[in-house]
Amino acid sequence: MAEAKPQNVSVSPTRTELIWAGKYDAQGRRVGPLRVALPFQTVETVNESAQERQLLLLREAGGEYSAKEWRNRLIWGDKKYVLPSLLPEFAGKVNLIYIDPPFDTGADFSFTATVPDHPETPEDDSFSFTKEPSIIEHKAYRDTWGRGLDSYLQWFYETAVLLHELLHETGSLYVHLDWHVVHYVKCVLDEVFGPANGLNEIIWKRTHAHGASDKFGPVHDSILFYGKSEKPTWTDLRIPNDPEYLAKHFTQVDPMSGRRFQPISLTGAGIRHGDSGKPWRGINPTKVGRHWALPGRLLSKLGIKAASVQECLEALDKAGMIYWPKKQDGTPRLKLFPEDVEGAAVPDLWTDIPPVSAQATERAGYPTQKPEALLERIIKASSNPGDLVLDCFVGSGTTAAVAEKLGRRWIACDLSRFAIHTTRKRLLAIPGVRPFVVQNLGKYERQVWAGAEFGDGKGKEEAAARQRAYIDFILKLYQAKPISGYTWLHGVKAGRLVHVGAVDAPVSVGDVTNIAAEFRKAVGTGKDAPQTNGVDVLGWDFAFELNEVAKQQAAAANIQMRFLRIPRDVMDKRAVEQGDVRFFELAALGVEVKTRGRTVTLRLKDFVIPPDDVPEEARRAVKHWSQWIDYWAVDWANQGDTFHNQWQAYRTRKNPNLELETSHVYAEPGDYTVVVKVTDILGNDTTKTVKVRVR
Ligand SMILES: C[S@@+](CC[C@H](N)C(=O)[O-])C[C@H]1O[C@@H](n2cnc3c(N)ncnc32)[C@H](O)[C@@H]1O
Repeated sequence: MAEAKPQNVSVSPTRTELIWAGKYDAQGRRVGPLRVALPFQTVETVNESAQERQLLLLREAGGEYSAKEWRNRLIWGDKKYVLPSLLPEFAGKVNLIYIDPPFDTGADFSFTATVPDHPETPEDDSFSFTKEPSIIEHKAYRDTWGRGLDSYLQWFYETAVLLHELLHETGSLYVHLDWHVVHYVKCVLDEVFGPANGLNEIIWKRTHAHGASDKFGPVHDSILFYGKSEKPTWTDLRIPNDPEYLAKHFTQVDPMSGRRFQPISLTGAGIRHGDSGKPWRGINPTKVGRHWALPGRLLSKLGIKAASVQECLEALDKAGMIYWPKKQDGTPRLKLFPEDVEGAAVPDLWTDIPPVSAQATERAGYPTQKPEALLERIIKASSNPGDLVLDCFVGSGTTAAVAEKLGRRWIACDLSRFAIHTTRKRLLAIPGVRPFVVQNLGKYERQVWAGAEFGDGKGKEEAAARQRAYIDFILKLYQAKPISGYTWLHGVKAGRLVHVGAVDAPVSVGDVTNIAAEFRKAVGTGKDAPQTNGVDVLGWDFAFELNEVAKQQAAAANIQMRFLRIPRDVMDKRAVEQGDVRFFELAALGVEVKTRGRTVTLRLKDFVIPPDDVPEEARRAVKHWSQWIDYWAVDWANQGDTFHNQWQAYRTRKNPNLELETSHVYAEPGDYTVVVKVTDILGNDTTKTVKVRVR
């Protein structure tokens, strides 16, 4: 038999790297992140005074905020769009990033929603259920895990590249993961940050026990810590010494104060010829080859500023800090009390931070919620007050809440609507919370999608073709038939006419007037002429006053108009292919208004939510419409700009009751536009506008 010849191995790698399918394109180029910088839209300001609000609006028109005008930001959106959009303003400016990206695929997008108890029924009819991920969250999941580990690594790599660009030269990144992906992610981070900038793998013991019948119980998470450079901000955080250590070493009792102490040496090795080598009270350290060595930190703590070492020793003795051994000629020692001991340096094994318990006040109903103590340690160790902290997967808001409490500036992002709502509530519960804004990429994200989907040519004809293709696409998803010959009426479904709202503007009262006028002209004419008086208006956004004014206006013209929201899911090809897209009617809110002099009182009267994906049991648990409401807020003097949150009421775990009435006293007489915003138990917003006149 012929002997197998050794083969020539021609692979000669130039560096160590992890490869996955999709890392390089067909031309061998590295596939990087999307780099479209879209402008943010402020949809809500929270805790802003009228004056500051005015300044902010001016500033928004004119560019960057100064440090004084800085507003913390809560951003609703996919990190894929949000991170590149942050770059123009924040590249190289973020001091600390903590991320807890999705890695436990089951729990990442679900949360517990609660129908609260109705206080007027004798029994407790509260009911909790797991809110399944929305289609858009499914999409994010598919982006992340659609092709298994390959797509996860590409998704993570793109995130890491942008985060690296956002970090300041002295900034740090903490990435929270578990054993499933941490080792792959370390390879990616080494590639983006450089192996020399990897500082720790922190092991956090997150639970006490975890039953696993066929292997060791997994009880820890890993947190990778990287610096942008080799010298990131480090505050040398200390933690209290272990009580066991203190009990073992601090055994002597001070007869003067009754406190425990440990006697420690007042001398150091080696002879010195200055003061520290001279005798004190007849004790000469030079004789035994030593010198006096006094703890400077303790002296300054005690306010001892003596001229010589001997005088310092006198002052220490006077303060009762010197221990004189009973045996004759015994060397005096320093009494070290536990409170004078510097805390221990923090190791990379964290066993002292328990998970968020079921009873904890910080619990927000998020299965993946991390404890505030964990974020406190990270933020204190790697940033200073005033520094900017970023988390683009903020979930229940832990990073934002802790950054706020520790006086850091923050930017927090999440693509889940419920996460944004939970974070806003959590921040509002912090006494003295500084003003912050809620933002999204709204129409800009949709414009990018429409351009990519239907062409972005600049010509008039191309624009018309794009508009037609967009309308036909939405009509198809709504299962309506396109009609021609009209400007404002685009399709027909089950005898009702359909209007498709623009990609880049909310449906306005003016649009409704045009729809109604065209409808009237069309009745009884042509082959597509309306057969009924029903019109469905589909829109991405709706002007605040729409529910109120437009419905009345349409009814006066004998048109029965319904408003339905075009879901963000239409931007997801796979959701579209799977026929997953559903259009929901806007929720309807009833508000009663009473005016007395300059006092206006609002009372919520009714709230009807569309049959969203709420399980039937949850629907049955609702005895009164108010149980659908989790939170409501009022802007008492809206100026047609963003919603300015001036008053709010919401349910908490401690106090699940909700006030349904509120009053406001106006300083000046006049006509005001009041906007009421209600957030339901699933995190969806509904607004209603009312006009008031105070004298
Ligand atoms: C593990 S949880 C974060 C929990 C958080 N650390 C806390 O303490 O509550 C991950 C979060 O990432 C969000 N998320 C997942 N993919 C995202 C994406 N592409 N862009 C923005 N947020 C995303 C999910 O909605 C979820 O809230």
